[in-house]
Amino acid sequence: MKKDEGEAIRQYAKSFEAYHHWRTKENPKGWFYNDYLEVPAVNELLGDIRGKKVLDFGCGTGIYIKILIKKGAIVKGFDISNDMLSIARKENPQLDLRQGSGYDIPFREKFDIVLASLVVHYLSDWNKMFQEIARVLRKGGYFVFSTGNPVVGTVKKRDQGANYFHDKKVSVGWKDNDGGEMRMYYYHKTYEEIIRTIIKNGFEIVDYRDCFPIRRAKKNFPKEYERYSKEPLFSAWKIKKK
Ligand SMILES: C[S@@+](CC[C@H](N)C(=O)[O-])C[C@H]1O[C@@H](n2cnc3c(N)ncnc32)[C@H](O)[C@@H]1O
Repeated sequence: MKKDEGEAIRQYAKSFEAYHHWRTKENPKGWFYNDYLEVPAVNELLGDIRGKKVLDFGCGTGIYIKILIKKGAIVKGFDISNDMLSIARKENPQLDLRQGSGYDIPFREKFDIVLASLVVHYLSDWNKMFQEIARVLRKGGYFVFSTGNPVVGTVKKRDQGANYFHDKKVSVGWKDNDGGEMRMYYYHKTYEEIIRTIIKNGFEIVDYRDCFPIRRAKKNFPKEYERYSKEPLFSAWKIKKK
């Protein structure tokens, strides 16, 4: 097992209940960062997926699974964390949801689309990851993924010595299952690394979003809207297997 895989398992063992809580229950208006920012952009990139075979890579507690099913897709999923999966399986007992890593995807069949929402930054080796995604995608299939915006992420931490060009492993503050503070570690990639790795592994970039907040956020989350309509927190990519 790679070091980053063990880290992801440990980090989500400490925080899976907290994660599911804040994504689904903390606020009746939803969770700004996902429901008003990242999910709408990814939804646009997914487009019409009725009848398409979609693999949810890093499906977590299964929040996207519900969205994908609503959009009419045929969904399977996997995640490295059995803790995250325990919630996804409980809420979707009819689905094929497997434990496994993006470095060794636990499926042998081909999919039309692989989706990875806010997952890829937990993997350090993107060559290995893209090779695996290419293996499970049909020719002409799409990989849709979202991650942090690497420039804005660094600028925000400039006073802590962050370096866009040299940083590899970074962290953010997170909540654990007991309501305590923890650090969540992930891997920083520059735009150059992201784009060159995509091209090198036989993919073509077909669409991209900076994740601008949806209009409803202005009323429901005015403070966050004000900030994130001026700086892009996330990036969302649609790439095609050639
Ligand atoms: C921020 S959560 C996102 C979960 C889900 N995609 C969502 O949108 O709610 C990141 C997920 O990536 C998973 N993950 C991290 N490293 C992974 C790896 N190497 N292979 C598969 N899943 C991984 C974690 O276990 C966690 O469930």
